[in-house]
Amino acid sequence: MTFPVDLLETLVAARSVAVLTGAGVSKESGIPTFREAQTGLWAQYDPMQLATPAAFLRDPALVWNWYQWRRDLVAKCEPNAGHQALVEIEGMFEVVSLIKQNVEGFHRRASSHKVIEVHGNIMRSKRFSDNVLVEAWDESDEVPPRCPATGDMLRPDVVWFGESLPAGSLEQAIAAAANCDVFFSLGTSGEVQPAASLPLQAVRGGGILVEINPQETPISRHAQYVLNGPSGAVLPELVRALRNGD
Ligand code: OAD
Repeated sequence: MTFPVDLLETLVAARSVAVLTGAGVSKESGIPTFREAQTGLWAQYDPMQLATPAAFLRDPALVWNWYQWRRDLVAKCEPNAGHQALVEIEGMFEVVSLIKQNVEGFHRRASSHKVIEVHGNIMRSKRFSDNVLVEAWDESDEVPPRCPATGDMLRPDVVWFGESLPAGSLEQAIAAAANCDVFFSLGTSGEVQPAASLPLQAVRGGGILVEINPQETPISRHAQYVLNGPSGAVLPELVRALRNGD
């Protein structure tokens, strides 16, 4: 891919970069997205039956087993070249904030450090009653398992529809967006608030918005640069272009 010269110049001059990632960045790792027709999880399953507190109370075993299926998939997959490129990007600018919506933990597995987690992590579990994280429990046939200390039901540590984001994470993400020179929106449909408003906050704060996505999204029309393609290919090429100065 040939990148616009002024985009490369903007990046060379940038001090502070914020990145918002969505399900698209892990698609090339084999993890399905949510809203793509046919293949997206929410095209195949009803989120109101699987990803709300009420759904869990209605049928905790169904919800736990569905997330267990997704955990098993994550355990079999690996971060891809896009995740690796973001690790390199972390070393290229003075300030980098990686705001991630994905729950599978690939950015940390790839060794990104400056991660702001806004939707939780599917590999962690917490008590349904009070959100306290629980690391280990007795394996039994009970589904979902229970906290060994209190007997409360466990649930995955992900943000469900209708729930607030983890304390402090939204404030951190807004500050990163509002103060960056360049904001990358990568592999997200821009359909889920409040994360979807971050690219606009960056633009309002004077940041240059760059989108990488094979499809047009509601974010595209606000972006100065739209790079149409898969992040696993476009991001490594962008890093290479910046390193080579071409
Ligand atoms: P979506 O499924 O809504 O959007 C995925 C986006 O990735 C789409 O715009 C695709 O065009 C794009 N895409 C597909 N393949 C790509 C690739 N190889 N490279 C780059 N982009 C690609 O996923 P999100 O926007 O992440 O919430 O969804 C936001 C939230 O909704 C998720 O975090 C999840 C879900 O409910 C929680 O898990 C709490």
